Amino acid sequence: MSIDWPALRAAAVAAAARAYAPYSGLRVGAAGQASDGRVVTGCNVENASYGLTLCAECGLVCALHAADSADAPDAAHAPDAAHAPDATHASDAAHASDATDASDAADAAVQLLAVAVVAGDGEPLLPCGRCRQLLLEAGGGGLLIDTADGPVELNVLLPAAFTGADLSARRDAAPGQEP
Ligand code: THU
Ligand code: ZN
Repeated sequence: MSIDWPALRAAAVAAAARAYAPYSGLRVGAAGQASDGRVVTGCNVENASYGLTLCAECGLVCALHAADSADAPDAAHAPDAAHAPDATHASDAAHASDATDASDAADAAVQLLAVAVVAGDGEPLLPCGRCRQLLLEAGGGGLLIDTADGPVELNVLLPAAFTGADLSARRDAAPGQEP
């Protein structure tokens, strides 16, 4: 799927206009091209407690997962629900717990292909560290991020990342069981 970067950036600008940022005064909008054809957006939402602030990318990732891909323009690329990890079935629970590698998790759900984040001035803003990690889970290291110098892969912005693969490889043999 080719990425319409001007449209993506415009969607991010529109989202930034809806930001709730009375404390920092920095409006942020994010727009992502999903693998099912949707363009999903988010804006930052601040809180009087400061620490509860939601970055624009948080809203974007939530929007990615919250809608039904079957209604997407490119539903053929939507994930088959039968293949998604479903921890409500015992047999699938084992599979779900294995699907902790970022690429495995992305295989099981609709993916982000490209993301534009802008500030209220309309210019690109690079995602903060937490959001780079959040985006990694939703799009993998090959996710394209808009920058003032053109798109770069998320791998470049978040090298040597911690992923679900580290969980699979390093956790206790029987997680959650007290000795
Ligand atoms: N912000 C985002 O929305 N995304 C980022 O990745 C960087 C920071 C927001 C959070 C807060 O509302 C404001 O920018 C100032 O940090
Ligand atoms: Zn952030």
